[in-house]
Amino acid sequence: MSTRLAVLISGNGSNLQAMIDAIRMRLLAAEIVVVVSNRKTAFGLERATKAGIPTHYHPLKPLLEAGQERADYDTALAEMIAAYKPNWIVLAGWMHILSDAFLQRYPYRVINLHPALPGQFPGVNAIERAYEAYQAGKIKKTGVMVHLVSDEGVDNGPILATREALIYRSDTLEMLQQRVHQTEHQVLLEALHRVIEGDE
Ligand code: GRF
Repeated sequence: MSTRLAVLISGNGSNLQAMIDAIRMRLLAAEIVVVVSNRKTAFGLERATKAGIPTHYHPLKPLLEAGQERADYDTALAEMIAAYKPNWIVLAGWMHILSDAFLQRYPYRVINLHPALPGQFPGVNAIERAYEAYQAGKIKKTGVMVHLVSDEGVDNGPILATREALIYRSDTLEMLQQRVHQTEHQVLLEALHRVIEGDE
């Protein structure tokens, strides 16, 4: 039986696409059973639909406006996903921090992708901040990491895979962004191979 992945996104979904393509080419022994986005306009939802994957739009704001708590949002998310019986939850550009209300349902089963090396630039705009740090002479390289989400901390947890991405003097921010994203697509697949093999 192939490994069942639930993928959470908020935007473009290029990492989702990398998984879809690898599965289609039989380079990854997995199946994406559901894609959830907190943003209605996330292009990744279109990618999923095109690939025949069920999608859900799960926005936070209406829930908070109706007087519910943040944990209620995560509980509802966990329940929605549970219906698809996933083995792993992949946060591929998911822009919310998951609380324990979600993580306790999936201990050590949530994988996050971060466009920086371990311990560097946690949170949003990591590539921009790496680019600025390079310009200021503070760093010589950046990278990406894929890790398990073990608690509510931001972009940290046991590392599954990491790789450096070089920065060149001639780089524009767009060039660096493209290099880091390409690196992410590879490292994400490497990490997924690792966890899938670990389950066998
Ligand atoms: C990636 O850089 C990921 O590391 C970050 O958000 C971005 C999502 O890109 N958390 P995409 O939607 O997969 O193209």
